[in-house]
Amino acid sequence: MLVLGIESSCDETAAAVVRDGEKLLSNVIASQIRVHSKYGGIVPEIASRKHIEAIVPVILQALDDAAVTLDDIEGIAVTRGPGLVGSLLVGLSAAKAIAYARDLPFVGVNHLEGHVASVFLTEKQPDFPFIALVVSGGHTNVYLVRDFQDFTILGQTRDDAAGEAFDKAAKLLEIGYPGGVVIDRMAKKGDRNWITFPRAMKDSPDFSFSGVKTSLLTVLKKRSRPFTKEEMPHVVASYQEAIVEVLVEKTLAAAEISDLTSVVVCGGVAANSRLREKFLDEGQSRGFEVYIPPMVLCTDNAAMIAVVGENLLRKGRRDPLDLNAVSRWPLDSLFI
Ligand code: KG4
Ligand code: ZN
Repeated sequence: MLVLGIESSCDETAAAVVRDGEKLLSNVIASQIRVHSKYGGIVPEIASRKHIEAIVPVILQALDDAAVTLDDIEGIAVTRGPGLVGSLLVGLSAAKAIAYARDLPFVGVNHLEGHVASVFLTEKQPDFPFIALVVSGGHTNVYLVRDFQDFTILGQTRDDAAGEAFDKAAKLLEIGYPGGVVIDRMAKKGDRNWITFPRAMKDSPDFSFSGVKTSLLTVLKKRSRPFTKEEMPHVVASYQEAIVEVLVEKTLAAAEISDLTSVVVCGGVAANSRLREKFLDEGQSRGFEVYIPPMVLCTDNAAMIAVVGENLLRKGRRDPLDLNAVSRWPLDSLFI
């Protein structure tokens, strides 16, 4: 089945064409990073407006890149939530309009399930069941995944998401936006053991990242002068290591407890080079098979939405044209 995927839950307007839920024909992503960077974070009103400007050209580009037309498309998959409602509505409305005009089936997809499904677009794919860490700007969740639409949450953050911890630290240190990307790049030249930041909730399956951010703030307040350009890589490398270590340890612990060896790592923060390296190293030495999609499929994209959509459509699911966007949508209650 040839599916057009559409994603607009946050600050990326994306469309993709995927065949049979695994063959990526096109993957177009229009990022709004430059617009939001001067505010140091996403401004929801601006995000919605930018999605409106981008949505039609992005969809047309995705069809063009795949060398197909709407006549070839057999179904539409669109992110329904979770995300910013104003942003979600742009993609959802575009999907409904195409579905109505072309009399095509369409389904609303959970963005978090999309992140997990991004692994099915890669060459090396896990068999169910597996453990999945979804780690992004809004979520840090560990799931037991038995099948599509069959998720059990094993651990989640009690406060900030890991991506949020990166973004807030970069803001505190005034080193740029988006924080995760800037820290990842800068940390490559730094000493990971320069400062020992706290690793919170060691004995729990849940995460907490507000402490590490507060700890950074305390370090900054105690100093008589700001960190120099030479010191900054050490600060961010130490901070990154504290977050990465907790993510790797808790995810592998969840796999151990569940007696599973396949581990999927996905979501925007899975683009982090140290996280990828540590997961692969630890996985190998401790007997886990770790699956991490390429970076372009870790951050928000519509291809992952098309994968889930194809699965739902193939099972006969059809959503009505009055389907609403949802800002919150936990993965273990997939059909609301
Ligand atoms: O999945 P995503 O694109 O959007 C959400 O659904 O949230 O994730 C965005 C998050 C941001 O917090 C961003 O700082 C983080 O992913 N991120 C990274 C990296 N690239 C993006 N964090 C650490 N290292 C990176 N290389
Ligand atoms: Zn995301």
